[in-house]
Amino acid sequence: MAHSLRLGVNIDHVATIRNARGGAHPDPVTAALLAQDAGADGITAHLREDRRHIRDDDIFRLKDAIAIPLNFEMGASDEMVGIACDVMPNAACLVPERREEITTEGGLAVKDQYAYLAPKIQTLRDKQIRISLFIEPSEMEIQAAADIGADIIELHTGRYCHLTNPDELTAEIARLTKGAELADRLGMEVHAGHGLRFDNVAPIAAIEPMRELNIGHFLIGSSVYLGLDQAIKTMKRLMEEAVA
Ligand code: PXP
Repeated sequence: MAHSLRLGVNIDHVATIRNARGGAHPDPVTAALLAQDAGADGITAHLREDRRHIRDDDIFRLKDAIAIPLNFEMGASDEMVGIACDVMPNAACLVPERREEITTEGGLAVKDQYAYLAPKIQTLRDKQIRISLFIEPSEMEIQAAADIGADIIELHTGRYCHLTNPDELTAEIARLTKGAELADRLGMEVHAGHGLRFDNVAPIAAIEPMRELNIGHFLIGSSVYLGLDQAIKTMKRLMEEAVA
């Protein structure tokens, strides 16, 4: 039977364009509402420490405006945990964050940072916020995510998206599949994201325990050509075809 698969639309780069000129246009909240109308199943936004795209008031406005779940992507700092507890998103997706990086590079080192992460995760759980950890598909990190009480793991597809060699691609899809199956057996919901496009989404969508893909840069970029509505509808169709 076909598995159910949601599309989470990351609207960070609407804010990137807005911030390039200052002012209020284009508004990530307006884009989130359009995404919702186009069939997005959730909205993801990353409030970075340096506020380079999404800003504090965007997150609060998003939570108020949208009717679909808000996935609040954040570094595991006390500041962000405090904001998450005020915003009360559906899920907090903890990611590693380095100020100088262009985008989130690599997954969270859950095993190495267990003692640092555990109390932050507990604070969020006490507020009934679901915990999602953005990790590499490594057995060690998946087991650590289960041990620390994650509800969800989001598998990092960054390496997969950069590969061109067919053998390496096959091996990486197998690694992601094995990781997804292990997480599923350990009772966690499986998501994936980073670098997904029309031409590479199908093998990831087809992984059986996969329940959500979070996609941003490609969809916002493609909306310049297609409009956000068509970009999202096309991505959803490709996901549905892969699942079927
Ligand atoms: N998931 C996570 C955890 C991310 O950090 C990002 C990038 O912000 C995405 C998904 C979306 O990646 P992309 O913008 O490449 O689609």
